[in-house]
Amino acid sequence: MGAYFKFKERRIEKALERDSIRGFSAPPAPEPEYDATDRRRAIPAKGLREYWYPLIHEDQVGYKKPVYWRICGEELALFRDDQGKVAAVSDVCPHRGASLSQGDCFYKGTVSCPYHGATFDKHGDCKAFIPEGPDSKMVGNLPIKAYPTQTHRGWVWVWMGDAEPAPIEEDIPPEFLDLKTTSLFHSTTYWNMNWIIAIENQNDSHNGFYVHRNALMQLMSPRMRARTPVGPRSKLIADRALTPMMQNQRYYLDDKGNMPYQLYHEGVGGMWPLHTWRKLVWKLFSPWYRWGVYNKWRLDPKRYPLPSPEEWAGVPGASAWHLPSAIRVNAGVYLFTRYAVPVEENLSRIIYFQHRPMPRTIFGHIAQWIWFHGYFNYWLNYNFSGQDGVVAAPTRYWTKENLAPTDSHMSLLRKLVTERSRDAKRRVAALKAAAAAAIAGGDTLPPKSAAIGSDSVDADLEAAAQEKAEMAPLGVIVHKRPKMV
Ligand code: FES
Ligand SMILES: [Fe+2]
Repeated sequence: MGAYFKFKERRIEKALERDSIRGFSAPPAPEPEYDATDRRRAIPAKGLREYWYPLIHEDQVGYKKPVYWRICGEELALFRDDQGKVAAVSDVCPHRGASLSQGDCFYKGTVSCPYHGATFDKHGDCKAFIPEGPDSKMVGNLPIKAYPTQTHRGWVWVWMGDAEPAPIEEDIPPEFLDLKTTSLFHSTTYWNMNWIIAIENQNDSHNGFYVHRNALMQLMSPRMRARTPVGPRSKLIADRALTPMMQNQRYYLDDKGNMPYQLYHEGVGGMWPLHTWRKLVWKLFSPWYRWGVYNKWRLDPKRYPLPSPEEWAGVPGASAWHLPSAIRVNAGVYLFTRYAVPVEENLSRIIYFQHRPMPRTIFGHIAQWIWFHGYFNYWLNYNFSGQDGVVAAPTRYWTKENLAPTDSHMSLLRKLVTERSRDAKRRVAALKAAAAAAIAGGDTLPPKSAAIGSDSVDADLEAAAQEKAEMAPLGVIVHKRPKMV
């Protein structure tokens, strides 16, 4: 089962690489019709930059040949450095633009361009320019952009920012820095959509009961948040994460405190769900859940993985969004983290991490492996989560939205991204500096504007800066399915 999906993932990765060899140019993006108070305008189409992202599993990078990879709209060449760790540099050779990933790793810790043999180390320094011989003036004078990387538990994390890398523990799930408490499973797939669409999908308007009604997970046992016309309030944590506080979940409960399975919708004169046959399926599976999945032994809190910090969904049952683009569910017996890593404007690499309690014996490891690869990965990631991938892909992101009360959590996510993220803070700082320079130059300030992200900066200053410094375009999200052959 997993082999088919692995094959599919590799096909997309190969197609991305083929595109780059064939040569391609993106069509110009049409100007969207947005109004200036809409936070979506300030969401960077190719992802936030000042963060650590999961890049690739180190096993996918060998020692002889570099690997072509794309993230945040940038093309990277990955290779092994002098310590055997995965290093990342731009794929575009600074000599005349050839593709480094089509080259070779002739010398330990370096990658050589296939065109004229410019050879770079992990810092992006040119160590040799082979056709010109050892005295070439290019040596030491042909820097290429290098991306800081760190490897934790086999996963390579990359810093995509322009500023000095932030401490990695601010950005990555804590289990990656603790080798003893949990085991780690992962799988990767691709969704044909922008990264923000992919992460807005989580904690969405209770779509669990609707979109996923025929997912195995839903058919096997009743679960998901209660339906309610009022969204939960959310809590902002350390300008890095949001967690829903799960109020308003009891709106439709009956006198006995139970959620009715069907609710009558007067406008259409009918019940939802339309039928009750799924309840029979639940009954069929109830012994499996009672004795297999939810037995006392498995649910003993002593067997739970690490207590998680609040920003990573602290207590069992909690969920969180975490910058730059992760969602996290604390299921008690396991911790689930799903990243939507921007690849291009219309393609996201969906990486699932699952941390489970570290087994004490080799048999425990084998049992977990079989559980994840034979059942769980399909059950949660491909079957259940894949349904979100299908319904969210055609989202016309620039549609004039009419948000529902249950979208409140998503609105706050947009605020987090556009006003509290490191990228937003940097942008505001740059605007302030430009405005101060404009004022120092004796310019007259234009009238106040409703600029996004201006809550922490004087609006006049920001407006002046926009006039003077022409705010760099933040990217436009265009709905278009990439050609994948
Ligand atoms: S283009 Fe890379 S060495 Fe010439
Ligand atoms: Fe969903």
